[in-house]
Amino acid sequence: MSEVFDAVSVIAAKRDGKALTDGQIDWVIDRFTSGEVADYQMSALAMAIFLNGMDRREIARWTAAMIASGERMDFSGLRRDGKPLATTDKHSTGGVGDKITLPLTPLVASYGVAVPQLSGRGLGHTGGTLDKLEAIAGWRTDLTNEQMFDQLEKVGGVICAAGSGLAPADKKLYALRDVTSTVEAIPLIASSIMSKKIAEGTASLVLDVKVGKGAFMKTAAQARELAETMVALGHDSGVDTVALLTDMSTPLGRSAGNGLEVAESLDVLAGGGPSDVVELTLALAKEMLALAGVDADPAEHLANGKAMDSWKAMIAAQGGDPDAPLPVAQHTRTVPAPASGVLTELDAMGVGIAAWRLGAGRERQGEPVQAGAGVTWHAGVGDTVTAGEPLFTLHTDTEEKFDGAIAALDGAAVIGETAAPRGSLVLDRVTA
Ligand code: URA
Repeated sequence: MSEVFDAVSVIAAKRDGKALTDGQIDWVIDRFTSGEVADYQMSALAMAIFLNGMDRREIARWTAAMIASGERMDFSGLRRDGKPLATTDKHSTGGVGDKITLPLTPLVASYGVAVPQLSGRGLGHTGGTLDKLEAIAGWRTDLTNEQMFDQLEKVGGVICAAGSGLAPADKKLYALRDVTSTVEAIPLIASSIMSKKIAEGTASLVLDVKVGKGAFMKTAAQARELAETMVALGHDSGVDTVALLTDMSTPLGRSAGNGLEVAESLDVLAGGGPSDVVELTLALAKEMLALAGVDADPAEHLANGKAMDSWKAMIAAQGGDPDAPLPVAQHTRTVPAPASGVLTELDAMGVGIAAWRLGAGRERQGEPVQAGAGVTWHAGVGDTVTAGEPLFTLHTDTEEKFDGAIAALDGAAVIGETAAPRGSLVLDRVTA
């Protein structure tokens, strides 16, 4: 006799701290995707999971059920010059000023590897890769599967929107978690990220798990647990997965905002750019190339222009004009340093919220973002600053937004006498 389930008893089981059975998990994900389990019931279950957790078996089953809710892609047939193409992908758990996907994708693709980057839009204080690239005139995100496969074979790098067919259960659940304060739960984050990546069909994956004030995971111990959970899920599904734990206590680079981050990525592809962005791009590229079986030093293609050529080909293949000037905000305002000394802290969360309030992000899904809006900071942690000299420049098309952004930056920069020397951005590495 087949088991009979209902949403109330599944919620009650998790509320009471029990492990959900495979049958309960399969049923609840399937019926939530079809609409039979209501949003309010899934929200209650998400909160029960947030509070009581899930064990490894439950997380693996939950992830498998979310993959089964939609289509699964397969890149094993990709060929170039008649030979199979290795695929590798990167996923970041989200940070402020995190534009790494932009230089990283064409850099890795320039070594003859296919990089299918199915990306998302920003919500809240972290930016979205698709919003950033849409600052480029003509560039479009919505490729069909055929266009995507064709671009992977011909150009190597693709950054595009994940089709609605991939893990639709996650899409619905993520939207609920975002408005019910249930995002920061390890079982839910791990299953959300890995269901999309496994369904996407990449052969290998590098995870950039952020740690610190600007990240979902505030401590290294939490981040390590998340990384270990995701690496195990990848490994068990046949995706070669490695995770780097990287510092997100201060924002990456010198800018947060859509067009501003494209400009900074172009500096990196031209062989320059902020040292932290270059460091992280190279660390992730090395891991991706190693997983794809390529023995190379990726710094070479930043220096000799091959990564830039790969970027131009990737942008042009998606209708963008890589040589068009980037949009600039109509208004700018500078915020001066309140004192002289050394910048000892720069709070990623404050900077992210300021950029978002200036119009770089959205408050509700579907709202337009401003291509030129955001924040640039003129000093990084450890740099000397002088009272009265510009510390931040704010950019927006909507002058009324300045006050909210300035309020978000209040206290974000701490000026002292000396800063501890900055160590490596990469704090740890997790493998199966
Ligand atoms: N990114 C995702 O795709 N899902 C999460 O739950 C968190 C970050």
